[in-house]
Parts: sequence; C-alpha cells; structure tokens
Amino acid sequence: SKEIIIAPSILAADFARLGEEIAAIDAAGADWIHCDVMDGHFVPNISFGADIIKAVRPMTKKIFDVHLMIAPADAYLEAFAKAGADVITIHAEAGPHLDRSLQAIRALGKKAGVSLCPSTPESALEYVLDRLDLVLVMTVNPGFGGQSFIGSQLEKIARIRNMIGGRPIRLEVDGGVTRDNAAAIAAAGADTLVAGSAVFRGKSSADYAANIAAIRVAAEA
Ligand code: DX5
Ligand code: ZN
Repeated sequence: SKEIIIAPSILAADFARLGEEIAAIDAAGADWIHCDVMDGHFVPNISFGADIIKAVRPMTKKIFDVHLMIAPADAYLEAFAKAGADVITIHAEAGPHLDRSLQAIRALGKKAGVSLCPSTPESALEYVLDRLDLVLVMTVNPGFGGQSFIGSQLEKIARIRNMIGGRPIRLEVDGGVTRDNAAAIAAAGADTLVAGSAVFRGKSSADYAANIAAIRVAAEA
C-alpha cells in the first residue's frame, strides 16, 4: 500500500457555512483542502476568489490546495499566495507562458502545480517537469462538481506516473473520484485524490469522515 493524500473539494461544501464545513472536513481526516477557483471565462462557472480563501484560512492548518480554473492566471498568483494558498495549480490551457507562470508561483514561495483538461495530452508536461511540484489530471471537464469520471484518463495517469520517474512531483486526480474508482485511480499511479461530492455526502463531520475513510481504504488497498 502507499501513502495517499485525500483532498476534499470545498466546491461541494455548503457555501452558507463554508468556514464550519472546512473545520468539519479537517476534523474528518482531510489531508489537504482543495479550493476550486472558477472565473466564468476559462470554465463556464464562477465559484470564489482570493478574499474567500483569505477568510477561511484561519479555520484549519491543513494545506490549501488551490486549483485555479482561471485565464489569464498570472495577474492573480500573488493574491492567492497572500490569501494563504500552499499549492497553486494553474491550467496548461490557460495561457501561452506556462514555464514563466510556474516559475512565478515558486518565486512566491508556494508549491507549483499544473492541471491538464481531459483532452490535453501528457506531452504538455515534457518541458516543465523541473518546474513542477504537482500534476493535476482532470478526470471531468472542469467547471462543476458531481460529474462522472472520464475513464480514458487512466492511461494518461499511468503515462504521467512514468514521466515523473523519481522526481518529487505529486500526481493528483480530480473529478468524479469515489470509493468505487479510487483503487483503479491509485493503481494507475495517482498519489493524491480530490473528491467533492463523494465526501460532502451526508451532513455531519462523522459522515464526512466515513466518506474520506472509504476512499482512502480503497486507494491504499
Ligand atoms: C471541477 C473541480 C473538481 C470538482 C470535484 O472543475 O476542479 O475539483 O469540484 O468534484 P467531484 O469530486 O464532485 O467531481
Ligand atoms: Zn479541482
């Protein structure tokens, strides 16, 4: 078995009680807190920005894993770094200067991640591997929680695991992850799993803990 990071996505939380929900998944055993930032331009939905992340930062000491589904992203990197992001992930498809953007994230003292939409081949990573701390493979088309896992991405996950080799790069998978597909996703090579709707089912921290544990047990089997 291997050490799997579970990163619940707060996009699936009750936004009317966001701070309480973050405290609840912290208590429920979340390793990271996945924050889905959407601008209504790069993706067809608007979620929240740096001010919300700043507001909930004090609710937990856990890593804020910030997924920027925004374009352009460069102008906002500092705001998210100052708001309390620990990992800042940008999309390879969000602009033409991925290498420079990744360098800018590291220059802010944060971990740098790149996310690939389902149709983007892993070759997009080839010349930036040494700029990366994390690769985020989208297994749904970004913009919404509660969608179904796109199975074709398992091959991409395996290929990226191979590309990573011995480098200190985490392989995160995001979209439609459940206790039922977590084993296959981990077997393909993922070590970090995002889950929104599969975690925020039920209403109490105990429910969330059971959901997180079920995903973790399946992935670490
Ligand atoms: C989609 C987001 C995902 C999503 C995950 O654009 O990046 O993080 O919120 O939600 P589920 O786990 O419900 O697919
Ligand atoms: Zn996400």
